[in-house]
Amino acid sequence: MTEFKRVRKAVFPVAGLGTRFLPATKAVPKEMLTVVDRPVIQHVFDEARAAGIEHFVFVTGRNKAVIEDHFDLQIELQHTLSERGKTEALAALADAMPEAGRTSFTRQQEPLGLGHAVWCARDIIGNEPFALLLPDMVMQHEVGCLSAMVDLYGRTGGNIISTEEVPWDETHKYGVVVKGEEIDGGFHLEGMVEKPPKGTAPSNLYINGRYILQPEIFDILSSQKPGAGGEIQLTDAMLALADSQPFYGYTFTGRTFDCGSREGFIKANVAYAMWDREMAESLRPELEALLRDIKPV
Ligand code: UTP
Repeated sequence: MTEFKRVRKAVFPVAGLGTRFLPATKAVPKEMLTVVDRPVIQHVFDEARAAGIEHFVFVTGRNKAVIEDHFDLQIELQHTLSERGKTEALAALADAMPEAGRTSFTRQQEPLGLGHAVWCARDIIGNEPFALLLPDMVMQHEVGCLSAMVDLYGRTGGNIISTEEVPWDETHKYGVVVKGEEIDGGFHLEGMVEKPPKGTAPSNLYINGRYILQPEIFDILSSQKPGAGGEIQLTDAMLALADSQPFYGYTFTGRTFDCGSREGFIKANVAYAMWDREMAESLRPELEALLRDIKPV
């Protein structure tokens, strides 16, 4: 069996403006808003770490320094917790931390688009395949979306895009894929269409924010012209790369929450709280009472 180069590094583009969540995101990056007790970015970092990722590359922008602080030691806090014998809190902090020397932070000086943000990581990634995780998308799954993709990659190599079913009447809101022949754990990907007009979608599988890409994407991105919305689009670069390299789709069967939107963020909080046995016990009657009493506007 062919041995493919391992996926060791992951890119987290966190330089977007988060306009959908203003004014909350004026001073606080949307990636630092919490889903229950962890910032959104920690959920996504944990997914990458569980998939065997060894180096975590954050493409940040202005006002995002707090993300770097989040993944650093807080000496005074550790000291105080330890003096007070708060071992559980200390263990939670330790568990959330990357190992020393396993993170890199680089800046996208202007938010020129997702494709441009990915390109900013080129020197840190070098000449090897890498994972790309859109940190807005928080995913709940027994195995972990990226873990399942890494597993598929071990058999296929190439480039892999995670997809997920949406109702057919919502396909116009998303990037949708053209599905080819099925393979064990996925399918041959034959195309992508960004926000297809209603009734024209080639499938109801949307691109949900997890990718494994080959480094040749950087060569394409270096000369990529702005596309939709005047932004340098990752989809355009992937379509160009698909001319010379295989692309596969992975069908994710867990739940994805778009935490860059207010609704998705609230849904994620309710769902993660209800998945916590202790919290669910006290929350359930509260939610039921709310559903009974609140009249729709
Ligand atoms: P979004 O489309 O969610 O854009 O980007 P955004 O600016 O963050 O949010 P809204 O739409 O204004 O509310 C998808 C991902 O790509 C990153 C974002 O941080 C997000 O994780 N991104 C986007 C960049 O890092 N740089 C960019 O120039 C654009």
